Amino acid sequence: MTETMRKPRISFFLNGRAAVAAVSPGDTALTVLRRQFGLTGTKEGCNEGDCGACTVALGELRGGTVEYRAFTSCLLPATRLHGRHVITVEGLGAPERPHPIQQAFLDHHATQCGFCTPGFVMSLFCLFARNPAATRAEIAEALEGNLCRCTGYLSIDGAGAALAEKIKINAGDIRGQILPAYCGEVAEQLHRFDRPIETVEVSEPSGERCLAYHLPATLEQAFDIMWGIAETADYRVVAGGTDVMVDANVKGAVPKHLVDVSRIAGLRSIRDDAGTIVIGANVPMTDILLHPAVRAKLPLLCAALSQMASLQVRNAATLAGNLATASPIGDAGTALLALDAVAVLTTKLGERKVPVESFYKGYRQTELCAHELVTAVEVPTADVAWDFQKSAKRSAVDITAVSSGFAAQVEGRRIVSARIALGGVAPTPVLARRTMELLTDKEIDAALIEQAARMAASEVEPISDVRGSREYRSALVRNHVAKHLSKLL
Ligand SMILES: Cc1cc2nc3c(=O)[nH]c(=O)nc-3n(C[C@H](O)[C@H](O)[C@H](O)COP(=O)(O)OP(=O)(O)OC[C@H]3O[C@@H](n4cnc5c(N)ncnc54)[C@H](O)[C@@H]3O)c2cc1C
Ligand code: FES
Ligand code: FES
Repeated sequence: MTETMRKPRISFFLNGRAAVAAVSPGDTALTVLRRQFGLTGTKEGCNEGDCGACTVALGELRGGTVEYRAFTSCLLPATRLHGRHVITVEGLGAPERPHPIQQAFLDHHATQCGFCTPGFVMSLFCLFARNPAATRAEIAEALEGNLCRCTGYLSIDGAGAALAEKIKINAGDIRGQILPAYCGEVAEQLHRFDRPIETVEVSEPSGERCLAYHLPATLEQAFDIMWGIAETADYRVVAGGTDVMVDANVKGAVPKHLVDVSRIAGLRSIRDDAGTIVIGANVPMTDILLHPAVRAKLPLLCAALSQMASLQVRNAATLAGNLATASPIGDAGTALLALDAVAVLTTKLGERKVPVESFYKGYRQTELCAHELVTAVEVPTADVAWDFQKSAKRSAVDITAVSSGFAAQVEGRRIVSARIALGGVAPTPVLARRTMELLTDKEIDAALIEQAARMAASEVEPISDVRGSREYRSALVRNHVAKHLSKLL
């Protein structure tokens, strides 16, 4: 069945009621919530995922229950609300009856101008709804994507900690304290509502901007749609949308066709095959980080992903998107290069496998052909010594100056083989090939570390930009490599 919406309408649950919205293909959830529903508690700050003021809770059925995750609504295509439950700050409480999280903010003087407060409240709501026993560290992680320019984070952190304590004391009534009463009925409604939709095609025939937002439910449909779009046409694939929507919001770069692959169920799995973990192209980074096999067998990848962006961004962003965007400072790409991962590329005509080291072709250029999708990433799970380093001004929501991934097969003090991937020092993430050769079949000692660190720095020619000068970046490469190798001593 194909559901075509000439007058594009999406249906979803909004706070305590069912809602229908007319959307244009380039709309974000933020614009729809504010302009069509007047829910201006959801704030518009940076419009590029950095400040968290627009955070909402998006509820999705997972294993029979609705799980709420925090998303920056400025980067969330409005179409994605279809069949989901959205909770905004208005759905939690009101001035005369604040929600316990809002009350904690009041009690701890954690709000001043209040612009950031709805975003903080929604981030904490998602945390406590999922994990009422959240620790201080988990509270900090949940809030890493929310900025406040006036209150000071100590009072906000204090509000979160006091709330966690209160929940612990009243452990019997957790759901009643955190989840609004209407949430009790939503799971059943979403079961009925989240019927398989093969394609929601949202067209805007006369628009000068985006003309169509395609939301295929299967790979076959995605290829049919892509096949119908001329190779030279202005179209773009959307996965998590955390790069695509920034381009749309900030640069006005909304293509004529957006092909959203996020609902293709077949791409949303992680498989632990013998010696390889296969990660589907749709799996959000949060799910990758939560997966037991990934945690146990791919610590390097986990280290890279957990330092990426913020929780809100990781709830949306995918590995495939990080690879395909081919940013020189793509943290996941750098980790995958070190791990000798392989990208699975698929078209209507078949599949091919390309090692990540051959996938990058130049600045923002990849091996991907027209109408070809990254459908999975295969990551070998060999038992290696590993390390990942990222240098940036802040530990969260900051872009890398230099990152590096290290994976080595080691026997005693002998390095059998080593891979060193560097991000931020060339037009794409690159391997330090001469250094890798130098290290092969060598005993580790201080002299070798010094020699390898110098060689790695001499292998790259970074540029100077706002994140660091050429000299600074070269020094970082030397220090990162020395740090990686010191772990073998
Ligand atoms: C606030 C913020 C902080 C960030 N911090 C970091 C950071 O610390 N480190 C970092 O590396 N990145 C960071 N990013 C960038 C971004 O989050 C990542 O690049 C992310 O992995 C992109 O994945 P996505 O699924 O959202 O991609 P999308 O935005 O959906 O797509 C990105 C590109 O890949 C293409 N694409 C996506 N999926 C496929 C597919 N399956 N097949 C073919 N092409 C595809 C799209 O057409 C698009 O060109 C940040 C972004 C934001 C907004
Ligand atoms: S408005 Fe700043 S993250 Fe969305
Ligand atoms: S209270 Fe003013 S921005 Fe946070």
